Amino acid sequence: AEATPSAPSTSTNTASSPIHRFSIQPLDRFQGASASIKRPREVTHFSYDDNHEYREDDSSISYYHPPRLNTDLKEGFSTFHHYEETTNPHLDSLLRALASKERQTGEKVDVDFVTWRGMMTKIMTAPYDMFAEFSMFATRIDGTIYIEEDFDGRAAQRAAEKDRPPPRWQARNAPDHKMMTYWGYKFEVLSLLPTPPPDTPREVIDARIAAPVSNHAQHCSIVRTSFGPHSLLLGGEVDGLSGPKPPPTSDAPIPWIELKTSEELPPNPTHRDIIKFERKLLKFWAQSFLLGVPKVVVGWRSKMGILRGVQDIETGKIPGMVRRGTGCWDGNVCINFAAAFLGWLKENVGDDGVYRVELRKKAGVVEVQRVGDGTADIVTKEFTEWRTGMG
Ligand code: A3P
Ligand code: MG
Ligand code: MG
Repeated sequence: AEATPSAPSTSTNTASSPIHRFSIQPLDRFQGASASIKRPREVTHFSYDDNHEYREDDSSISYYHPPRLNTDLKEGFSTFHHYEETTNPHLDSLLRALASKERQTGEKVDVDFVTWRGMMTKIMTAPYDMFAEFSMFATRIDGTIYIEEDFDGRAAQRAAEKDRPPPRWQARNAPDHKMMTYWGYKFEVLSLLPTPPPDTPREVIDARIAAPVSNHAQHCSIVRTSFGPHSLLLGGEVDGLSGPKPPPTSDAPIPWIELKTSEELPPNPTHRDIIKFERKLLKFWAQSFLLGVPKVVVGWRSKMGILRGVQDIETGKIPGMVRRGTGCWDGNVCINFAAAFLGWLKENVGDDGVYRVELRKKAGVVEVQRVGDGTADIVTKEFTEWRTGMG
């Protein structure tokens, strides 16, 4: 069943376009069986190479190898080859891969929404994150709504986070944000190799583990999925495969895995410890669910970043684990909320212009407002030309 927002509202600021509002609360209107959802199906994919350059192939697919335990995840921190986006990526790579696929098949991939998986993760998890905030831009072309992140807004937010002094209770030797980010990538390097396990000689594994950590290379899967009546094309990074990728003609699920580090739970975890982890599970679940990634591999680490253990968790089992646990979130509510929200976006993003879609911290209300003409750079010139030529 698709819920309708209980308190839609519109107000007009004399100087500009009307602001449309969608309130997240009360959540009970999103409870119950979830809107029908189809398993995501891969439409196409692409890689970024070691220079973060686009490549239309499988070259950056990695394979899971159980990592060596008791490794210190900070090893090699000083040589981290860190890729940080300095220019707005818009939807460029996603649209490039999509146009290329359409050129090969001669068929248009017709969906209601096109965006990066990360935007949908933010939307799906908003009902349970009081501190959630996001700012996106949307534009509608030929009935499809394209959504991108507000890159400049996000960059400003990141800069503010970086400048904020650590909380007073934090020990002086506590690892900082940058170090914790490194741990996540180091865990990936320890657990992923370019070839499947039996074919990989020991020396190759050792060399890889000793090499500098880089997050430049990526493999991105582009899937078609749906939330109730709304179809979406989503692109996002997949960490690796736990087995061979089925041929494109097969309908079998792709054994992608998502790697995540998390602080190990103490032997007798308190309710607070468990809730902290289950809140993290919401992000793990939403992110993996959206691309149809069937398994999350959690790397349990100590407070100081020693890898203590790994645990496989089936994505599909996460909502049930939490329901039987602290019940701090409900996957059906996330799905129904997202379905209702997408329906509301369809009604409020007009046929022309750029719209800002914004959720401010603690506001509990998503606002949509027309902020400009045209389609800005949300959709590339190449893509528009391609689609125009398709007729
Ligand atoms: P962890 O999630 O294990 O901390 P992803 O898990 O999405 O594949 O991302 C891989 C790693 O990138 C993360 O590992 C983390 O180190 C870093 N990372 C991803 N998103 C981040 C964010 N918003 N802020 C800081 N680091 C992030
Ligand atoms: Mg990743
Ligand atoms: Mg990961």
